[in-house]
Amino acid sequence: MNTEELMEHITSLGAMELEEKYGAHNYHPIPVVLSRGKGIYVWDVEGKRYFDFLSGYSALNQGHCHPKIIGALMEQAQKMTLSSRAFHNEVFVEYAEFVTKYFGYDKVLPMNTGAEGVETAIKLCRKWAYQKKGIEPNEAKIIVCEGNFHGRTSTIISFSSDPDARTGFGPFATGFVSIPYNDLDALANALKDPNVAGFLVEPIQGEAGVIVPDDGYLSKAFELCKAANVLFIGDEVQTGIARTGRMLACDHEGVHPDILILGKALSGGTMPVSAVLANDAIMLCIKPGEHGSTYGGNPLACRVAIAALEVVKEERLAENAAHLGPIFMGELKKIKSDMIAVVRGKGLFVAMVINPVNGKDAWEVALKLKDNGLLSKPTHGTTLRFAPPLVINEEQLMEAVAIIKDTILSFN
Ligand SMILES: Cc1ncc(COP(=O)(O)O)c(C=O)c1O
Repeated sequence: MNTEELMEHITSLGAMELEEKYGAHNYHPIPVVLSRGKGIYVWDVEGKRYFDFLSGYSALNQGHCHPKIIGALMEQAQKMTLSSRAFHNEVFVEYAEFVTKYFGYDKVLPMNTGAEGVETAIKLCRKWAYQKKGIEPNEAKIIVCEGNFHGRTSTIISFSSDPDARTGFGPFATGFVSIPYNDLDALANALKDPNVAGFLVEPIQGEAGVIVPDDGYLSKAFELCKAANVLFIGDEVQTGIARTGRMLACDHEGVHPDILILGKALSGGTMPVSAVLANDAIMLCIKPGEHGSTYGGNPLACRVAIAALEVVKEERLAENAAHLGPIFMGELKKIKSDMIAVVRGKGLFVAMVINPVNGKDAWEVALKLKDNGLLSKPTHGTTLRFAPPLVINEEQLMEAVAIIKDTILSFN
């Protein structure tokens, strides 16, 4: 049988063997082979249904294959998919006005992946540093936080504190200063350096295990940045677009980042769409030819992003996350098991830290959850992240809670 014939009769085991053989080994997936998704559910190749409690790392806030988003995608796909920015295209114009008004900025710079959005923000911040703040060439510094995750490019991993992300990938880019997360004294101290141009921060550290900073951290950090004439760069690639119960996680503290980075759910899980938003005084520091991307701002992506953002408001997804988040966390906290060290989160961005019992750790729990019909993925070995699509309702959430409870208790 060739691969094509095999795919017609594929079993999970067969598919995993093929992936092992032909796919690079840069991921260690939960052993499930998915073939279909709808709303909060996915199905494997054998037809078994699962709750999707990872949501494509929060790219699928609007749920799998949302009819409005897929409708927009299919309609635009038959009209025009790519113009490149060498020419204007009618959809980018519409999207640019829509997205800037939606988030309250003068301008948008469209990119594709979240990491590209972060790279763009770094470049923009540096340009601003030299043109507006008057920092000497090549001296600009950006403050970042320990435990950060901003993507996988070589510049971004240069300021990661995760050995897996860095080891063997040097030499590293310079110009970054790392401070502890959720530490305002450390920030105030780092801001004393006049060559600091920006503070790049996740409002909640997602990949680190949903680390929620103290109340007031973001607003105070923003004030400190203002006082030092330093740009506050909010990476809301994972926390943004309703996940935490507000449109942006920064909204919880009334912080409007100088540079905002969005990705993931900007396309409702259909294609890579990211965006950097800023006001003119910052964004116009970049001139034609200095930055861009072949696919950034393509008509297909722009049409999809408009639909994806409309769905968030029409279906009141932030309100749903704000309502269900505390219920979800309350239920998880009620589970009586030595295996649960901590439950934390905001909105429907929730993590459970697992104490290994009899050598069974978060990975084993995730495997059992999968067997019981719920998909999640451990992050950093000990932490399970639960982030369902935000279209979930209370009844469905309770069904999922029962699966999580039964699973955890089965280890006792
Ligand atoms: C906060 C944050 N920034 C950036 C990224 C990178 O996004 P992408 O994987 O689309 O490059 C991620 C991905 O998880 C993220 O969580």
